[in-house]
Amino acid sequence: MDTKRLVEAAEAARERAYARYSGYRVGAALIDEHGKLHTGCNVENAAYPLGSCAEAGAISAMVVAGGTRIVAIAVAGGGDEIGVCTPCGGCRQRISEFADGQTKIYARADDSGWSEFSIEELLPHSFQLS
Ligand code: THU
Repeated sequence: MDTKRLVEAAEAARERAYARYSGYRVGAALIDEHGKLHTGCNVENAAYPLGSCAEAGAISAMVVAGGTRIVAIAVAGGGDEIGVCTPCGGCRQRISEFADGQTKIYARADDSGWSEFSIEELLPHSFQLS
């Protein structure tokens, strides 16, 4: 799958966001090692800490489908008025669990462009159990 289709899937997932408390809508799409696409969106809750991030949903969908590695992930949360939305700290750790040095992480930077990162850039010296 090409990057254009990946980011379009993240944008589409963003449309499904349930962000009634923050109003901050996020969609995520990832490609696993089988070339399969998985998506997620943020799902908030009246009990605020129970809300979940878009990346968590996409990763959960990947795992239940049998995927074990993230080849590329796109996070659509940013825009011209709110700036870039890179994965939050917790989601950097979540991505790290299934990433390697080749994993591409795309973050919507503004209304017309995306920034690309590696997991090492976003989460250097990450915690691993091995
Ligand atoms: N959010 C995500 O879904 N992913 C991130 O990486 C950053 C934050 C969501 C959580 C919450 O529903 C909203 O954005 C505002 O923090």
